[in-house]
Amino acid sequence: MKILMVCLGNICRSPIAEGLLRHKIQQHGLDWKVASAGTEPYHVGSAPHEFSQNICAMNGVDISSQRARQFTAADFGQYDKIYAMAEDVYEEIKRIGGRKGDMSKVELFLNELEPSSNASVPDPWSGQEDAYVPVYNMIDRTCDAIIAKYSYF
Ligand code: 4NP
Repeated sequence: MKILMVCLGNICRSPIAEGLLRHKIQQHGLDWKVASAGTEPYHVGSAPHEFSQNICAMNGVDISSQRARQFTAADFGQYDKIYAMAEDVYEEIKRIGGRKGDMSKVELFLNELEPSSNASVPDPWSGQEDAYVPVYNMIDRTCDAIIAKYSYF
């Protein structure tokens, strides 16, 4: 399984999802790969937002070495599952992929927690540090659901 987590800036939401799922993959001894990207170029090369780093560190997950990169159409060929953290991100993934983008690989992330809810992880970018708590918690529970769904052994 090769999984890509995608948000807008790749500094707040998807880096948490990448770090947390990688941590759980290691705990479960799974041979999966996980990465993240953003649909927008603004923060390419940047470390995750300090509030994302903080809440992960408080939970024993170090995401400080992750760096933002932009999602490209080539990612459709590199990953088995592409998770959009929000509906606007889903639409951008579709636009970037164009006619060749295999949208059957793309799922709204929170649909793994609540199927067909089509809910979005709120964008905490302009919020205070406490905005990252519910974001972290929903990502945490959804990563558990992904592990439970796709780990057969
Ligand atoms: P993210 O949050 O998509 O969760 O990384 C954002 C980060 C930056 C911006 C928007 C959302 N921005 O507009 O710069």
